[in-house]
Amino acid sequence: MCGIVGYIGKGRAQSVLTSGLARLEYRGYDSAGIVTFNGRATLLRAKGKVADLNKLVKSSATSDSVGIGHTRWATHGEPSVKNAHPHRAGRIYMVHNGIIENYKELKSRLKNHKFASETDSEVLAALIDSFYKDDLTEAVIKALQLVDGTYGIAVVATDNPEKIVVARNGSPLIIGVGKDETLVASDASALLGYTDRAIYLNDGEIAAITRDGIALRNLQNEPVDAEIEKIEADLAQIQKQGYAHFLLKEISEQPKTLAETLRGRVDVRNERVVLGGINMTPSQLRGIKHITIVGCGTAYYAGLLASYYIEQLVEDVTVNVVIASEFRYKSSYIPHDSVALIVSQSGETADTLACMREIQSRGVKCLGIINSVGSTIAREADGGVYIHAGPEISVASTKAFTSQTSAMLMFGIMLAQSRSINPRDVRPFIQELSILPSEIGKLIKNQSKAIAAIAKKYSSFDHAIYLGRGTAYPVALEGALKLKEISYVDANGYPAGELKHGPIALVDDRFFEVFVIPDDELLEKMVSNLQEVEARSGHIIAITNSSKKLAAETVIKVPTKLKVLTPILLNVVQQLFAYHIAVARGNDVDQPRNLAKSVTVE
Ligand code: F6R
Repeated sequence: MCGIVGYIGKGRAQSVLTSGLARLEYRGYDSAGIVTFNGRATLLRAKGKVADLNKLVKSSATSDSVGIGHTRWATHGEPSVKNAHPHRAGRIYMVHNGIIENYKELKSRLKNHKFASETDSEVLAALIDSFYKDDLTEAVIKALQLVDGTYGIAVVATDNPEKIVVARNGSPLIIGVGKDETLVASDASALLGYTDRAIYLNDGEIAAITRDGIALRNLQNEPVDAEIEKIEADLAQIQKQGYAHFLLKEISEQPKTLAETLRGRVDVRNERVVLGGINMTPSQLRGIKHITIVGCGTAYYAGLLASYYIEQLVEDVTVNVVIASEFRYKSSYIPHDSVALIVSQSGETADTLACMREIQSRGVKCLGIINSVGSTIAREADGGVYIHAGPEISVASTKAFTSQTSAMLMFGIMLAQSRSINPRDVRPFIQELSILPSEIGKLIKNQSKAIAAIAKKYSSFDHAIYLGRGTAYPVALEGALKLKEISYVDANGYPAGELKHGPIALVDDRFFEVFVIPDDELLEKMVSNLQEVEARSGHIIAITNSSKKLAAETVIKVPTKLKVLTPILLNVVQQLFAYHIAVARGNDVDQPRNLAKSVTVE
């Protein structure tokens, strides 16, 4: 949420900053700004997107080679130019991600500063200015010692603009170490093409960046050693590569990205799964009797789906799936023979991270199911599985769901193996995992056009109900989430069995109803539910691999060799369906209103 970029080098700072911000725009897109320095500060801020900021840059171009920039997702104060970052206080310019929780108390101490914005961030800028004499690092440390909350910041003082000071607590900050230039970013994607060498700041660390080098300190003002790591992603992964939208690209590349998730882990010939990163012996795995899965949004639904699979695979384990933002208020008991799976595409989601820390403090091992390499959850987890799906740029999560579910399923298979469960029971899962990428590929190749046409037909509806049973239930929830977030259609998912307990009252001509019907032992029950809606003249779309004749207005039939993993495949139909509805409604598919990727505030 919100993006930060900084630059000091030989290049033109304005263009490095704006191109970096464009790459980070998916993290927040209600306003953007940059300030660059060369004897004087050139501050440019615009309400709206980076494209709006670029218009200002055109008319106020400078050749300055130092600067900082920001793209915002509003927390305190509406999206507007005055609330856009960078904020100025005296000699200080600052950009900030996160939330300063005690900003009101701090503001009351800052009588000498005339506040120009409604933001908590400007309070921090003013606090730093109040401590600033001639050592910016010291002023930043003094200010941060008084702050409660989360921050990733980049700060420059107008009287010494040859130094950028950055700091982090709970909001990512990465320093890109290039040849003759240093960049700062809240996400490695802004660094690609400049350098693949990075220092990932830890919470409580401050770095002073000059043309001569980088010096790290902690909040006690003691020196800290910097470790340079290699950035794994490459530039091609964050480009649209001819697709109309990142969302379509990310849906379409699932055969490849899922294959990456499985690579070297699923051994079909020997019917084994090995996840190296979980750091657990078979006897430790055997000791696990309880699993808590934690996530938000799509990651939560992936966890829910995986819980069905894990419980099918291993009889002596209970699985509890929790929404991260609720977990901490529930005082749930977590037994000691537990492990927690912490599921997050970004690895930065504030609620999920807070849950992980809480669970770890209770002595329970936390394994990350993470996409973003080097992210905070990945670094703080006790082990885990990188899903290797590559950067997800579109705000709506798609390929991550498929890979997260498969990664957790692999974990379930490892649990089964540790218990010497009859290989016959594990075999279908291993075999189907290995063909899932190609089954997804076939679906996308053969059925995308038809799904687009169906989506067009339903694109003027404003309400939708998604229904599923068993493993298709989490898939129905995910289908409804995907539709609502990108098309703004009011869509809700329910277990099909709950239909008669309330939701069926909604059925009328303003709604369509999506039935997710894998050809499994629950098929007949789903058919009965479908008929109940049909009897009330519902507009039913059935997504199924069954050949049974269904009384639906529209049937999307997906031929497949899969059995147990069919729901994951049917979800891809939902992704395409939601995408084409959003396109037909003329929405900003990749950056839907009010949303941002990577939710780093609670
Ligand atoms: C939905 C979506 C969100 C995320 C959620 C968790 O399409 O993108 O619901 O799934 O914010 O994000 P991560 O996985 O980064 O923790």
